[in-house]
Amino acid sequence: SFEVKIASSGASFMVPKDKTVYEVLSENGVEIMVSCEQGVCGTCLTRVLEGEPDHRDLYLDDAEHAANDQFTPCCSRAKSKTLVLDL
Ligand code: FES
Repeated sequence: SFEVKIASSGASFMVPKDKTVYEVLSENGVEIMVSCEQGVCGTCLTRVLEGEPDHRDLYLDDAEHAANDQFTPCCSRAKSKTLVLDL
């Protein structure tokens, strides 16, 4: 598991193995727009301020993945212990 932190509110939530970042945020009242929920459409794209995403999408290209400043919370996860999201 890893932690996601909401930059605007300072709130943080643990993301367990069996849930997506999107699911955890949604359960805690942080709404993100999603469509495909499979990493294809880019609808859920969210800016990352700190931490290293574990990219699982097919939407961003290699250079965009390497920049680590955005990720797809419908399917991607974290390599670092914490991700700070620009939400
Ligand atoms: Fe389509 Fe996340 S909802 S990439």
